[in-house]
Amino acid sequence: MRHSVFSLLLGAISLITTTGVTGLEFTVSLEENGKAADASKLQFVKIPPLKHRRRGHRNTTVATGQHVTAKRGNNDISYSDNWCGASSRSNDADPIRNVFGYFTVPDLKLRAGIPPPQYAAAWIGIDGAKCNQTLLQAGVTTVVNSNGGQSASAWWEWYPGAAYTIANLPVKPGDWMSVNITAHDATSGRIIVTNAQRGYSMTLNLTSGPKLCRWDVEWILEDFYEAETNKQVPFASFQDLWFLDTEATTVRGKNVGIDGAAMVHLMNPQGKVLCQAEKYDNANFVITSN
Ligand SMILES: *[C@@H]1O[C@H](CO)[C@@H](O)[C@H](O)[C@H]1NC(C)=O
Ligand SMILES: *[C@@H]1O[C@H](CO)[C@@H](O)[C@H](O)[C@H]1NC(C)=O
Ligand SMILES: *[C@@H]1O[C@H](CO)[C@@H](O)[C@H](O)[C@H]1NC(C)=O
Ligand SMILES: *[C@@H]1O[C@H](CO)[C@@H](O)[C@H](O)[C@H]1NC(C)=O
Repeated sequence: MRHSVFSLLLGAISLITTTGVTGLEFTVSLEENGKAADASKLQFVKIPPLKHRRRGHRNTTVATGQHVTAKRGNNDISYSDNWCGASSRSNDADPIRNVFGYFTVPDLKLRAGIPPPQYAAAWIGIDGAKCNQTLLQAGVTTVVNSNGGQSASAWWEWYPGAAYTIANLPVKPGDWMSVNITAHDATSGRIIVTNAQRGYSMTLNLTSGPKLCRWDVEWILEDFYEAETNKQVPFASFQDLWFLDTEATTVRGKNVGIDGAAMVHLMNPQGKVLCQAEKYDNANFVITSN
């Protein structure tokens, strides 16, 4: 893997980066308390692209190639190895343009019976479900250690192109943040990560990314797989995590909301449901931990 090339552009405000892998490039700008700030203090620490794509539940993917599904109102209930949350869909005739939502940085508690450190990642993304070869996403991962202390970090990823932890972008468990992702077309877009409580908003303009299908949007809490081992990290227990004011719009302006979405529950290999997503209305839902 080649190294990133960082070079400053536009004085102190933006920087441009070539990721080297797919030609994906990005520029970043930062606002603090409503004013342009020096984005060069944000450090993009390259990490191996994590396979945050949805995995079906082991038992059923092996046996039938289907997810276990049931219906609740007009929502499918489905089970996944790694996702809890909501996943909606459009199609080639009217591809996804934008996805948005507010959520809290995961606030974790140690889950009994499994070794610390334990983790959970909350994020919003385009593709990664039906479209399983690519995923544009941004969010935050919290880790809780053996004495209950937590730390969180923000990140973004355009799988399989590049993934970065954003050092120096402050996030604390329980903070309300928002993520706004726009696909201008299949290979360019914008990510806006805002943490109003800490007074900042970061904008990334992305070009020459891996080709999106623009079929799926999702709002997820994840027990993710480590890139090095391809094993899932120990999954922490957490305070109820709401996704609020969610919206996803298509190129033709249709809102692809939570109504009609698949509500995804995370089931471990032993068949235990570790968290579930409950719809409140078309824009809001909550994920609870078991
Ligand atoms: C991102 O693109 C928008 C619209 O083209 C532009 O106004 C903004 O300055 C760009 N930001 C960066 C960091 O390049
Ligand atoms: C990805 O999707 C394709 C086509 O839908 C399917 O054939 C393939 O098995 C999927 N790959 C994984 C890893 O799920
Ligand atoms: C998301 O960002 C786009 C600009 O990239 C903007 O047009 C849109 O209004 C934003 N959505 C929300 C809900 O803030
Ligand atoms: C999945 O398989 C495991 C091991 O075979 C079994 O213990 C568990 O009950 C199964 N879960 C479901 C939901 O069928």
